[in-house]
Amino acid sequence: MIKVLNNIFVLEGKNIQYAFGPYKGLLRHIYFGNKADEKDFEHFEIRDISSNDSSCDIAWEEYTPWGGLRYKEPAVKVSFGDGTRDLVLEYDGFAIEEDVLRIRLKDKFYPIAIFLNYKIYEEYDIIARWVEIKNLGEEDIFIEKAYSCEVNIDGTGYNITNVLGHWAGEGRRFKQRLDGGKLILESRKGNTGHNNNPYFIIDIDASEDKGEVYFGALEYTGNFKILVEVTPYYYTRLLMGLNDFDFEYRLKASETLILPKAYIGYTDKGYSDMSHRLHRFVRDIILPVDLRNSLRPVLFNSWEATLFNVKCDEQIELARKAKDIGCELFVVDDGWFGERNSDSAGLGDWKVNRDKFPNGLEELIHEVNRLGMDFGLWIEPEMVNPDSELYRQHPDWVYRFNNRELTTSRNQLVLNLSLNEVKEYIFNVLDELLTNYNIKYIKWDMNRPFSEAGALNLDIKEQKMIWLLHSKAVFDLIERLRGKHKGIEIEACASGGGRMDFGVLNYFDEFWTSDNTDALDRLFIQESVSYIYPANTMRCWVTDCPNFINGRTIPLEFRFHVAMMGSLGIGGNINKWTKEEIELAKEKIKQYKEIRHIVQKGDLFRIKSIPKDEIHAIQYVYQGESVVFVFKLYEKFGRKQYKVKLKGLNADKIYEVKYGDKIVRKGGAYLKNVGLELILDGDFSSQLIRLKEI
Ligand code: DGJ
Repeated sequence: MIKVLNNIFVLEGKNIQYAFGPYKGLLRHIYFGNKADEKDFEHFEIRDISSNDSSCDIAWEEYTPWGGLRYKEPAVKVSFGDGTRDLVLEYDGFAIEEDVLRIRLKDKFYPIAIFLNYKIYEEYDIIARWVEIKNLGEEDIFIEKAYSCEVNIDGTGYNITNVLGHWAGEGRRFKQRLDGGKLILESRKGNTGHNNNPYFIIDIDASEDKGEVYFGALEYTGNFKILVEVTPYYYTRLLMGLNDFDFEYRLKASETLILPKAYIGYTDKGYSDMSHRLHRFVRDIILPVDLRNSLRPVLFNSWEATLFNVKCDEQIELARKAKDIGCELFVVDDGWFGERNSDSAGLGDWKVNRDKFPNGLEELIHEVNRLGMDFGLWIEPEMVNPDSELYRQHPDWVYRFNNRELTTSRNQLVLNLSLNEVKEYIFNVLDELLTNYNIKYIKWDMNRPFSEAGALNLDIKEQKMIWLLHSKAVFDLIERLRGKHKGIEIEACASGGGRMDFGVLNYFDEFWTSDNTDALDRLFIQESVSYIYPANTMRCWVTDCPNFINGRTIPLEFRFHVAMMGSLGIGGNINKWTKEEIELAKEKIKQYKEIRHIVQKGDLFRIKSIPKDEIHAIQYVYQGESVVFVFKLYEKFGRKQYKVKLKGLNADKIYEVKYGDKIVRKGGAYLKNVGLELILDGDFSSQLIRLKEI
């Protein structure tokens, strides 16, 4: 609900309120937190400290322009045609249109309008914020910095949580205290990357079940920036949006730049509640409509099994095994096209390799369909190997600077998606594949960051727009494809989890969480991802041991249990699995199909977490049903017995509980307060507990 009282705007959700309004020449933030009586809101007067301490810096501004006596990080910085780089924003009224509060700001002199848009999703207690910048004049305006949102929080000494990841280490979470200075989380790589992730979690000593948490995520994939500034004036402020590094947007006459949406939320009930709100929101609001409500199929992916050595006969053999164990979708990964026998050639030549598929891709697809499975295909549309027909024909289609050599990474270059010919080429390739073959699933990969990011087709004044143009082009392509080919499931991948973000989830259905498929590492990667992203967006495979990353061998059941905590896939060479392994796979996939609605749609509770706890336990609860996965990594001092107290259950209901070879009936209050006694025997032991309200 949006309320306006005495020029104070109040956005109200089920539990939260967000208040701000114009006051004495500034658009001032007032409050973000649990509900109060909106009639009580008022602006506080700013007490000057000295002539060195600007009142603009002391004030909590809703969207800080760079100009005048301001030294804090601005939310927006522009330069006008005459060289003026000072923005003086005045409040110019508001409108409420279809649940969106639109605040209009304008410059005192120059023809620029900025619209701050707010929409509160009451059910989820999440606020969407986005900004539009409009050039009302005739001359270009250059936008040097434009964040999607600014958040002001009273006090200092908060903790911020994010990741400090890398390839195969996406989930390396860190938590750091914010006592002073500035902290930046960002990507400069052209994609979101593995290093930091475009979300924030800010809390004071919150735990899973209690404590205040401010959180948010950016609906963008690409160069993002989150800047947290602990001000000397006893408040903490956060900016989130496009990275201003190497960024400048030329806003031409009458043009409007719409910035990516930022979503922010608040809870005083700890991290679990934060995750529940975000997960529900992603599932119900962010994900593409087509498959939003359907359960993700169990897939087989050929990558780890055959790498580039894709051969029709072997794939058919894999498909038959995949069907036998219960897979519903068969995905051929890299290596099916052009001269793609390693990562050094063929990218860009999206024609079926006839040596590998003498009778075309149809032979495999027919067999996959005959078996009753859907077919999926890997592609990396934004890239090209210099050793490819495409590059030989169009060396000018890649990002490049004059007088600079091109730097390859994984032997490939990035295509310049600000070029219409390139976008058309990619669209046509995908359109043809989807038209000519019965493809139901696309895995869209991206295996290197940008370098020499120049676009020779763009004006010299537009060079620094490519970061934004590229990301927009990817989204436009997906949107166009979805418009023509309904119901296609699309997985985003960037060397594993380099594209996990709300932007991607607004266009793709899911992401590949990590190339690291070692079940032990995955426990931590998936747990870390689960803070923000729901289980149905996380693809998780069971692969072979020893694992290719670290040579570790882990029992198959444990590997299954880990992968069953997301959207399950099989990525091992099942042609080589023993009879016992195949039997176990059948049993586990069958079990997954029985519980996947709980995992993919339920609320997730991180009950126990290694290394804080000796065991790891994750619980999912959905409409009177629940499933709990419990893991022990190694046995210490012969201890086998553990107690697990469950969460999210109805204290007044009785549950049937199945675990190990036991079936018992227990009350919700008992399960919560007393807990279940479990036996976990030996290293890498795991258990799956199922509960149903009776
Ligand atoms: C990187 C992905 O993360 C892998 O799953 C696989 O698709 C390879 N690329 C293929 O080159």
